[in-house]
Amino acid sequence: MCGIIGYVGAAGTDVTSILLDGLRRLEYRGYDSTGIAVLTASGEVQVCRRAGKLANLAAAVENGARPAPGSLGIGHTRWATHGRPSDTNAHPHADCDGLITVVHNGIIENYAELRQRLEQEGHSFRSETDTEVLAHLVERAYRGEAQGDLLEAVRLALQPVRGSYAIAVLCREQPQLLVGARYNGPFLVVGLGEREHFLASDIAAFLKYTRRVVIIDEGELVALRPEGLTIQRLDGTFVERAPTTVEWDAEAAEKGGYPHFMLKEIYEQPEAFTRSLLGRVRAGQLYLPELEALQRSGALEKVRRIVIVACGTSYHAGLVGKYVIERWARLPVEVITAGEFRYADPLVGPDTLCVAVTQSGETADVLVSTRQAREQGAPVVAITNVVASAVTRLADAVLYIQAGPEICVVATKTFIATLAQLYLLGLFLSLQRGTLHPERAAEVLQALEQLPMQIQRILDRAAAADDPIAPLARELAPLHSVMFIGRGVGYPTALEGALKLKEVSYIHAEGFPAGELKHGSIALLDPETPLVAIATASHVYEKVVSNMQQVRARDARVIAVATEGDEAIREHADVVLYVPPTLEELSPVLAAIPLQLLAYHAAVARGCNVDQPRNLAKSVTVE
Ligand code: G6P
Repeated sequence: MCGIIGYVGAAGTDVTSILLDGLRRLEYRGYDSTGIAVLTASGEVQVCRRAGKLANLAAAVENGARPAPGSLGIGHTRWATHGRPSDTNAHPHADCDGLITVVHNGIIENYAELRQRLEQEGHSFRSETDTEVLAHLVERAYRGEAQGDLLEAVRLALQPVRGSYAIAVLCREQPQLLVGARYNGPFLVVGLGEREHFLASDIAAFLKYTRRVVIIDEGELVALRPEGLTIQRLDGTFVERAPTTVEWDAEAAEKGGYPHFMLKEIYEQPEAFTRSLLGRVRAGQLYLPELEALQRSGALEKVRRIVIVACGTSYHAGLVGKYVIERWARLPVEVITAGEFRYADPLVGPDTLCVAVTQSGETADVLVSTRQAREQGAPVVAITNVVASAVTRLADAVLYIQAGPEICVVATKTFIATLAQLYLLGLFLSLQRGTLHPERAAEVLQALEQLPMQIQRILDRAAAADDPIAPLARELAPLHSVMFIGRGVGYPTALEGALKLKEVSYIHAEGFPAGELKHGSIALLDPETPLVAIATASHVYEKVVSNMQQVRARDARVIAVATEGDEAIREHADVVLYVPPTLEELSPVLAAIPLQLLAYHAAVARGCNVDQPRNLAKSVTVE
């Protein structure tokens, strides 16, 4: 969702450049509007805000709106929830006379009621946002009960606030103090430098300056001064926390010579998949200490079914998870899109294992669902890429996907690394339940270890001049609609292929179970609507081929994703995209790669903004 950044350091610093640089690295979180506020050496808060992308703000700064140097600043990149994207609704937001300035990621659910109360007290509002109430609440507390103590004022101001937030707050009267707070989801992390410190929604925003970080937990406030930090809980108690050093280097969050993060991240997949198995698969054996601890606690013994909650790409990974867990562990699995789970009065209790899949660990729909499952007694396993993200606080065990930072809004490497965790979970449960012969499990583990090399082969071929993917993408680029079909694990692969194409190229795309197409949607096919069929080797291969024939008989163009060596498929398809052979259950990892590349090249051919597609955000921290 939105991204926030804050800085506090020595007077006379070029705070604007630090904030703009941080926002550039946070822009994937939202790009409807951006803004900065700097407390200058003369004690004035100078604000610059613009609707649209960061480039608009950067241009305004270059053309005369640049705040003067200072010691303190906050910045924001917005994915609009309350109030349309405009200069006025862009953050930062201030109270009546600009004493308090705030940036906010999340949503204030009771903002209407708070606003009404504040207006009755004489506060006047300028924007349509939920965030502005925070500035007025802090002002009221600062001038009243907190008696000029900013940390206390923020703490008091947040008491009546319902919803979710990560915020950064500055006060015109406090040039050496930046205050932050986090509640109910959105990530917030401090970067500790030498007498200068940072506060952000993502480590990448300040990685260039420091790798020493302190993660702010749920329900905590932080006061940052050049001499150090103080952490306090919303109930007023103080917390001690030592900094940790992150391994990532700034290079990992940069494009590294690729034209787009999406392409870079597609090409990082062999390494990402290798990392996702790191320490977990050795010499044909599975090591999952996270789940072993859960097992020792006895929580898994009662489990009779599994519910996977997830959204978007993670939901598609969950559908593959259902297939393999049911097949290997013989446990019934339900996969529910998280936005529906909580409000469906879910039948979940201690006999249900809830698997929360969210690469960002911040998706609000997943968080509320997981909390609900937990409250009803279900043990929770979280699968996420972000260390200490909100979902990890709700989980009894966490499987980190270890894919490294993913900057492009559309998920690629985190998809296949999530699949790796679901495979390992499936194997763990099946070995524990005795439903899979250890030899078969060893065979799966060996096949998993082969996948990085096989992904590399697909990528090497895609980079060759005679590869069909990029020319095919250029042929698809002018079309309005593309259909995807698959059966078994090919079905979620089809859904993910369609999602990639529509997210990044805006070509309408739909995925169907191959057998379902003929029950209605086949009516949409014509020579201008091609069909992509996932026809890799599987026990349903022949059925998929029959479905392809039904489509070809109606003059639609057919593109097949098939297994190397399958020459016969050429009779049924106009174009074939080959992937190396693997076990049927693992085939989505390989079949996803050409579909990602197809979407990428189609988007480039259509001139779309590949890394930041319109209307999307990487972490959706509102329901
Ligand atoms: C957003 C992104 C999608 C992503 C989904 C779930 O909608 O645009 O690409 O798949 O969130 O994200 P998560 O972080 O929970 O996996």
